[in-house]
Amino acid sequence: MKKIAIVTGASSGMGRAFIFQLAEKYPKLEEIWAVARRAEPMEQLQKEIKNVKIRLFPLDLKEEESFGKISKALQEEKPWAGVLVNGAGIGISGNFNEISEKEMTGMMDVNCRALTRMTYLVLPYMRKGGQIYQFASAAAFSPQPGFAVYAASKAYVLSFSMALRQELKEQGIRVTAVCPGPVKTEFLKKAYGNQKISGYKRLVMADCDRVVSCAVKDAKKGKAVSVYGMTMKLTRWICRIFPEELIVRFFQS
Ligand SMILES: NC(=O)c1ccc[n+]([C@@H]2O[C@H](COP(=O)([O-])OP(=O)(O)OC[C@H]3O[C@@H](n4cnc5c(N)ncnc54)[C@H](OP(=O)(O)O)[C@@H]3O)[C@@H](O)[C@H]2O)c1
Repeated sequence: MKKIAIVTGASSGMGRAFIFQLAEKYPKLEEIWAVARRAEPMEQLQKEIKNVKIRLFPLDLKEEESFGKISKALQEEKPWAGVLVNGAGIGISGNFNEISEKEMTGMMDVNCRALTRMTYLVLPYMRKGGQIYQFASAAAFSPQPGFAVYAASKAYVLSFSMALRQELKEQGIRVTAVCPGPVKTEFLKKAYGNQKISGYKRLVMADCDRVVSCAVKDAKKGKAVSVYGMTMKLTRWICRIFPEELIVRFFQS
């Protein structure tokens, strides 16, 4: 049985970084299935990574037929899925009534629906020792005016991951929710467009490879939630102890 990892969001940012780190840190993997819409950056991965075969799935996770294609590949290959990384995600900032309906549903489709669907499809092929990385965000720690749907979608991911982790404990499959603050990837450009990124965000901006290294280390330690950096750890702690209404007001200011 072929041992594989499946990574969504493989064409850029943390998904891409994950593929490099999986190829290096999980030597028993025989194939990594890379899922994203853009084929070209994933073909580049194939050129750069020599020790593991990268199989490309250039698919749009908003489209129903994409899940059919992944399901078919799983049924045909019947692999042993050692690792699943649900990295695909989008964020569009702006007040709720300022973003388009398409942007709003797109965030929910990719961040919540696709992540849940991928987990459901891949889980039957996982066994003891398997690891699921779910990309949530520090935005999951509190509601965020100006980023309401995105933060809510990530709160869904965090809640889903924590519950699933408990359910899968007996099977020996681990789930880690990855909750970084701002990370230097294409994401921020897509999320904020031409808007200026706040000084605070620029100050705490993390390096993509470091966030992924931290997630792999945390997962190996068996952590339920991986939070990179002291500032975000502190943010999580503050969001847990102060009243939510106060925190929401802070995020609006
Ligand atoms: N960067 C941050 O500040 C930050 C902070 C906290 C959490 N996160 C979360 O971390 C995860 C990775 O983000 P990133 O920073 O690495 O962003 P990124 O560089 O923009 O990567 C996002 C990935 O998702 C894929 N994707 C988006 N829409 C898709 C769709 N409809 N179908 C298939 N794939 C799709 C993109 O590929 P294609 O465009 O090729 O489809 C890309 O590979 C996301 O879940 C994000 O919400 C990011």
